[in-house]
Amino acid sequence: MSQIHIAIIVGSLRQDSFNLKLAKALTKLAPADVTFKQIQIGDLPLYNQDDDTNQADSVTRLKAEILAAHGLIFVSPEYNRSISGVLKNAIDHASRPYGQSAWSGKPAGILGVSVGAIGTAMAQQHLRNILAYLDMPTMGQPEAFIHAKEGLFDQDGNIGEASNQFIQSWMSLYVTWVRKHIA
Ligand code: FNR
Repeated sequence: MSQIHIAIIVGSLRQDSFNLKLAKALTKLAPADVTFKQIQIGDLPLYNQDDDTNQADSVTRLKAEILAAHGLIFVSPEYNRSISGVLKNAIDHASRPYGQSAWSGKPAGILGVSVGAIGTAMAQQHLRNILAYLDMPTMGQPEAFIHAKEGLFDQDGNIGEASNQFIQSWMSLYVTWVRKHIA
């Protein structure tokens, strides 16, 4: 089976972000024929439609990295019951200029970890709305609402025992989902 390349976008800029840790641990659970790159979104300017005809280098880079990927994984915290502002900013940037969205048709997967009990469920639902509008087929099941509790990660940064099987299975299903959509 041929190699596929997945871009990961983390919706938190926090240095010790649980979502960043999850994104890093996730890549270790993928089959050998999958490569990953985390797309950086922290250096993007605030989106301004006036700049659509002269997008910043960081925006051009963002769009090129999305276009180069077979699929996207979003790993985002929940901020005030929605996705983080930095993630929405990145999504808006890469959706423009009108008619030149980088997102169209890219198969997506969503995970999120939160200190709250619902594990980013509301944020993920909002993100699903956005991705539907952007014409991104998004894996529906299994939902990955992850609660940041003791033991989620082991001392090496891998997913701890309690969640390892679930996340491994999520990754395997996501890779199958991407292959189906790029076939
Ligand atoms: C939060 N947090 C949070 N948690 C949650 O479950 N639901 C929510 O609506 C919110 N809202 C929220 C707003 C803002 C502005 C912040 C800073 C935080 C808590 C959040 O889950 C926690 O800070 C996580 O650690 C954020 O993810 P990272 O940065 O660890 O990946």
